[in-house]
Amino acid sequence: MALLEIRHLNKTFALGESMLGRASRGEVRAVDDVSLDIEAGETLGLVGESGSGKSTLGRLILRLVEPSSGSIVFEGRDWLAAARPEMRRLRRDMQIIFQDPFGSLDPRMRVEDIVSEPLIIYERCPRARCRARTAELLHAVGLDPSAMGRFPHEFSGGQRQRIGIARALALRPKFVVADEPVSALDVSVAAQIVNLLAQLQRQFGLTYLFISHSMPLVRYLSTRIAVMYQGRIVEIGPTEQITEDPRHPYTRSLLEATPDVLL
Ligand SMILES: Nc1ncnc2c1ncn2[C@@H]1O[C@H](COP(=O)(O)OP(=O)(O)OP(=O)(O)O)[C@@H](O)[C@H]1O
Ligand SMILES: [Mg+2]
Repeated sequence: MALLEIRHLNKTFALGESMLGRASRGEVRAVDDVSLDIEAGETLGLVGESGSGKSTLGRLILRLVEPSSGSIVFEGRDWLAAARPEMRRLRRDMQIIFQDPFGSLDPRMRVEDIVSEPLIIYERCPRARCRARTAELLHAVGLDPSAMGRFPHEFSGGQRQRIGIARALALRPKFVVADEPVSALDVSVAAQIVNLLAQLQRQFGLTYLFISHSMPLVRYLSTRIAVMYQGRIVEIGPTEQITEDPRHPYTRSLLEATPDVLL
């Protein structure tokens, strides 16, 4: 059984009048009949151009956006039909790392509070234990415990992304959606964060959906790659097959757009 089984997932957004004018209201099929499995322990890379529906798919899986139709089964349980207590448990098991390490952290909160907030909400853990756990998490992402009392603006982009990762891992999730986690960072910093993600995966037994528009990045991290185009998965397979022997013309065009030196 796969960790996550997605079947015939759809999401349509109504287009506002402002976008199309009064006469022609319409809708956009952001995610269009997507079915795929994600196996425990793997990294599924999700690649595709801007607007192809990658973030929407990631958010649907976490139910940050509600699907129009389809099913999502996590560890054999129907996630879309889950009752409240089960939903609470499942929410802990699935977390997200966002692209913008600054925008996703509350500037008025100290790092200790940012990282420990999920522990306080979900575990009501005593202060001393929370602090110890927060220090452990900061250590795991390569930050000094002295970071705890500081604020997000005191850190570089890469360090802020480490804070976001520590927060995402606070509840020991099983599954993490990383939505363009390094695209706001300089290349050398991005490489450090990518390596950190790989190391944390081994350390904590994580399963990733890694979203990126960059084929080299996805290739570097992923066990398998899914290629998304206009809301659909047009090709999915082992990383080597997708990059060495792509079947779909769109996958080929993505690979051709990538300089060889990066592959
Ligand atoms: N909340 C929303 N309301 C209306 N339309 C939306 C909403 N979110 C996404 N869309 C539309 O759905 C489509 C897919 O968007 P999505 O953000 O999932 O793409 P993406 O592949 O993540 O793009 P990018 O690489 O730029 O992040 C786009 O046409 C987008 O405009
Ligand atoms: Mg996106």
